[in-house]
Amino acid sequence: MTSQPFTEVRFLAGQVGETVRLRGWVRNARTSKTRFIDLRDGSGFVQCVVGAAEADPESYELAGKLTQESAITVTGIVQLHPKTGQPELLVKSLALIGGSQDYPITPKEHGTEFLMENRHLWLRSKRQWAILRIRHTLVKGIRDFFDGDGFTLLDAPILTPSACEGTSTLFGTEYFHEGMAFLSQSGQLYQEPGIAAFGKTYCFGPTFRAEKSKTRRHLTEFWMVEPEVAFAHLDDVMALGERMTKFLIQRVLEGRQEELKILERDLAPLETALTTTFDRMTYTEAVEKLKTLGSDIQWGEDFGNDDETILMNATDKPLWVHRFPKAFKAFYMEPDPLDPKLALGADLLAPEGYGEVIGGGERASSLQYLLDQIDHEGLNRADYEWYLDVRKYGGVPHAGFGMGLERAVAWICKLPHVRETIPYPRMMGTLRP
Ligand code: 4AD
Ligand code: MG
Repeated sequence: MTSQPFTEVRFLAGQVGETVRLRGWVRNARTSKTRFIDLRDGSGFVQCVVGAAEADPESYELAGKLTQESAITVTGIVQLHPKTGQPELLVKSLALIGGSQDYPITPKEHGTEFLMENRHLWLRSKRQWAILRIRHTLVKGIRDFFDGDGFTLLDAPILTPSACEGTSTLFGTEYFHEGMAFLSQSGQLYQEPGIAAFGKTYCFGPTFRAEKSKTRRHLTEFWMVEPEVAFAHLDDVMALGERMTKFLIQRVLEGRQEELKILERDLAPLETALTTTFDRMTYTEAVEKLKTLGSDIQWGEDFGNDDETILMNATDKPLWVHRFPKAFKAFYMEPDPLDPKLALGADLLAPEGYGEVIGGGERASSLQYLLDQIDHEGLNRADYEWYLDVRKYGGVPHAGFGMGLERAVAWICKLPHVRETIPYPRMMGTLRP
């Protein structure tokens, strides 16, 4: 007997009437006279129907004994479910590949702590499958967007000698005779020299913040995409970030309908974000608005998580907030020529209560200003010499931003917490699995 090649669940809709072989894992097996197996193979989900009349006797018996997460191969005819119109498999034969005893995650409700401890198994759940496939689509979309727009990928190092986003959230490790190295908080400082070589660059990799905050938005290890553009100003950053965001939403709406459905995602807000011009307001205007919404924020204070939630709860439209007080922004930001108390930074806040997903702005162009800022922040000039060279040899206005991938996934999937947006989350108190 020649054995047939395997197909994948995702192809079944085009194979109705054919006899096919599948391999995968048993999500659930129900036994009555006819036996039903919910099978998943990583590419999708399909119901297998095992009837005494169609299946061979050993297979029929085995189907009655299958446990959750057993690995099997199964052969049968693809047919359309009479009610749902979805492909299902009328089984002729099946075989056990790997048994599974007492799988810990059962269809009943489990607490988050338990699921997090079993993250390596939790990945098999339908909801996690849907989220991580949307993450995949965003990663691919990000690369396609920048690659298609003339950007050159310029990978940034992960081991760095100095801080980009303030010294309070650095993870350190000893580095031979050089003393301490730090896990990168951002690839930005390495993109800035890159623009003088390539015009437009981006990096996209893991970044690290030793955040002591336990919030639904903070990871200690997260992925950030960081484009940087020569001859660009603040407005260009907002325009680029908006274009990229819409491109990504479009990609997900086009390619991930099944996943969005599993997540029961309301598509209307995503369609609004896709089709309308994002709102814009200055930090000063945002503070005024927050006060009318009941926040006790004072001018000069950074937004707290709550402020971002209050500001973005009542809207489906993303919002650019720009021109922040320089005092709480990073040392590298260009001051506003109209008001030197302000920095030319811009954050994109996602609607539906999500808050900041993008942070960026125009970079300081004056060498002297940057030296003063470095001194003011108590940073070591020697660590930044190379960075300052961008201003010495053909300095040009330039600007860029960073988008946290997990924040974007959380918003697009409408998840309550970023911990589900990354395969193996790293947070304060979470290092395993
Ligand atoms: O606003 P941030 O700190 O900006 C920078 O790092 C700039 N150097 C980026 C640039 O201009 N090239 O971080 C950028 C984004 C945030 O908007 C947020 O989406 C994400 O990175 N982010 C985090 N995501 C998860 N957990 C954390 N602890 C995060 N910190 C920042
Ligand atoms: Mg920020």
